[in-house]
Amino acid sequence: MKITVVGAGNVGATCADVIAHKELANEVILIDIKEGLAEGKSLDMWQTAPVNYYNTRVKGYTNNYEPTAGSDVVVITSGLPRKPGMSRDDLIATNAGIVKSVTENIMKYSPNAIVIVVSNPLDVMTYCAYLTAKIPSHRVMGMAGILDTARYRAFLAEALDVSPKDIQAMLLGGHGDTMVPLPRYTTVSGIPVTEMIDGAALDAIVERTKKGGGELVNLMGTSAWYAPGAAAAQMVEAIVRDQKRIFPVCAWLTGEYGLNDIYLGVPVVLGAKGIERIIELDLTEEEKVLVKDSAAAVKEVMNVLDNMNA
Ligand code: NAI
Ligand code: 2OP
Repeated sequence: MKITVVGAGNVGATCADVIAHKELANEVILIDIKEGLAEGKSLDMWQTAPVNYYNTRVKGYTNNYEPTAGSDVVVITSGLPRKPGMSRDDLIATNAGIVKSVTENIMKYSPNAIVIVVSNPLDVMTYCAYLTAKIPSHRVMGMAGILDTARYRAFLAEALDVSPKDIQAMLLGGHGDTMVPLPRYTTVSGIPVTEMIDGAALDAIVERTKKGGGELVNLMGTSAWYAPGAAAAQMVEAIVRDQKRIFPVCAWLTGEYGLNDIYLGVPVVLGAKGIERIIELDLTEEEKVLVKDSAAAVKEVMNVLDNMNA
């Protein structure tokens, strides 16, 4: 098993480190455009192997895709992160060029790979990779929902003073302020969350989750990496271990939720084939409106990309 992570910055390096710790592959290849960065970080990571007791060999290269040949899974994290005051959508012009050229290189050497996009604006960069890769959509997906639900679950665990392990949650929509956390599908060890917390406190947590990325950008001057890197690695794990996990994943919709030709966060079954199934929830009218609004926001940015490519 070989996994490539493109972008040896904060998210990419964290993701590669988690993959190595979990021994999800024999080999992890880290690629960056900055001379020496991927080589240095992967050498440093590899030197943790004797301490942390893992065998996965992490190797880094500067803009050289030959060593990525035959990768089973590729995670794309290359691109600019947000700075304070920026929305994820402000990144489109720069990051679309980066994601397109990276995807071309990846496909040249690993035509059978499953591709997980992390770069922002997430839903549209996943669309960009899909247009470039020209492979079936079940093999091109984006990571956002695991991160967004992780933030939601962490906030709930803190408010309820319970283990985050016991909080299960689902979320729909784009990776932005229009995302749709679903309290109706949130449980604490099977107990509906609404039986454990009052409505106002739950609403406040939903709102904090929607702005969870921005909260961290304001604190650190750049976007988060520990939870994003771990979330992307969890998707890799589900695929390489054929776990059939149910996660919110940015997937190409062809009629599901009444939406067509759009990449959007929905519950999927993730296994060895990539997205093996999209699960359609029976939404209330209010939830349907929120998902429709989120889809409209994503579609607007997809149109910007389409016009850039026209
Ligand atoms: P970073 O700046 O730490 O790392 C990005 C790396 O990409 C840099 O090392 C840069 O040299 C590299 N890079 C740029 N162009 C490249 C190219 N053509 N080929 C290979 N490498 C290239 O940024 P960070 O924090 O790792 O974030 C990466 C991306 O992930 C950003 O777009 C950020 O907005 C996004 N992100 C998405 C999340 C999600 O939930 N989907 C969560 C967190 C970040
Ligand atoms: C995050 O949600 C900025 O997408 C990045 O942390």
